[in-house]
Amino acid sequence: MIPNLWTPYGLRSSPFFQDPLDPNEGALHPISLFVGRKTDATRLTTRIGSNEGSRATVEGQAGLGKTTFIQFVKSRATESSQYLSHTRHIRVTSGMTQEAFGIELVKTVLSTLTSNLPERKLRRRAAIRAAQKLVEENEKRSWSAGVSAFGVGASLGTAKSSDRPTFPPTQFFEVLSGLVACARKEGVTGMLIHADNMENLFESDLDLAQHLFRDVRDYLLIPGLHYLFAATTGFQAEVLSRFPQVLSIFPDPLVLSPLSPNEVVELLHKRYRHLQIPGSKIVPPVTDDAVHTLFGNYHGDLRGMLTALGDACEELLSSSNTKPMTLDRIQPALSPSYRDRLMQTTTPSMFSHLETIAGSGLKEFRQTDLTEVLKLTPGRINQLFQDLIPARAIRLVETRGRSKIFSLTGYARIAFGVEEPGSTPS
Ligand SMILES: Nc1ncnc2c1ncn2[C@@H]1O[C@H](COP(=O)(O)OP(=O)(O)O)[C@@H](O)[C@H]1O
Ligand SMILES: [Mg+2]
Repeated sequence: MIPNLWTPYGLRSSPFFQDPLDPNEGALHPISLFVGRKTDATRLTTRIGSNEGSRATVEGQAGLGKTTFIQFVKSRATESSQYLSHTRHIRVTSGMTQEAFGIELVKTVLSTLTSNLPERKLRRRAAIRAAQKLVEENEKRSWSAGVSAFGVGASLGTAKSSDRPTFPPTQFFEVLSGLVACARKEGVTGMLIHADNMENLFESDLDLAQHLFRDVRDYLLIPGLHYLFAATTGFQAEVLSRFPQVLSIFPDPLVLSPLSPNEVVELLHKRYRHLQIPGSKIVPPVTDDAVHTLFGNYHGDLRGMLTALGDACEELLSSSNTKPMTLDRIQPALSPSYRDRLMQTTTPSMFSHLETIAGSGLKEFRQTDLTEVLKLTPGRINQLFQDLIPARAIRLVETRGRSKIFSLTGYARIAFGVEEPGSTPS
């Protein structure tokens, strides 16, 4: 038998899970565990309620809580049956074409309808059949293009869109409008459409991403559809501002700020209570002080911090020792493996420069702040930063005017034993 590590803590399973919260009833990690961000949520629901159709971009750094926030807004907006949503969101991939976006959109609207309205009401609707036909047709086409281009056994969706005939954009528009009309007949005012990780679109090809939005603009304006786009910070400025006709249909992005340390402590206590084994006493697996400091080191990256706590549990917790973890145990327990991992994802010279940055005591830095410290030319430092960001060692904190401010990530801080000064509550 595999012993459950969490039983002695009075918990059913790990409170440090990293997946977004789920608005579905009976979900393992339900949206009721949500904390904070009420003003932002009200702003969005008000916008949705006061327009026939709407578009919003929700921005913030990775791990901050964008997906979960949109799930929360969806669950709030759909408390009344006038608005519908679905946990399914548009899966955004790099190099996505107008057609691929259109298909994802049709599938999402279709699931939103079929999961919320009784089947008998939808069965005979021509619009539903037209949408289902479009999806099936697309699958057949990708399949046959996949077979002819790559031989039998090629998996669905590997074919490039250029290998097969395409659907005219007007067809998507008609199918989508038909689906919305169908919802209207059932008394639905609007549907919330969530597209996640929009940054995937432009990481490889900015130009293509900018054109995609120009090409799908008509679908974004269909009354009755309310779009919620999640992306890392800078998406709107980089992608949507290329074409004025695109930018003009988007209000300013909603840039989420990090939760406060107290909200993060509350978040964990909510998780403990949710996971509590009935009749058992909860032993918090980590002290609130450690959470405060660790969260400060992670600068709002909740997922990063939860991952670190999950990793620390494996090192420090056992069924026989139920003492809550403190920072002075977490840090040394994780440091060697985080250092090893960083060493594997960097070259020896990158790693040694990183070590120098960590030892410099600079909390935040511009590239120019490091010319002295690293004894490198500005060009070499620029290159170094471009390599250290994907290695998750440093991150862009903000752009002030023309200068970019960076800092070490929480992960690198743990690796090098750097603690955020002043983040420990007194
Ligand atoms: N406001 C919140 N309340 C409770 N938990 C949250 C909140 N925001 C994020 N989380 C949790 O933090 C983790 C990261 O959130 P996620 O929405 O996936 O971030 P992002 O989409 O920005 O990368 C998830 O485990 C999620 O459940
Ligand atoms: Mg996300």
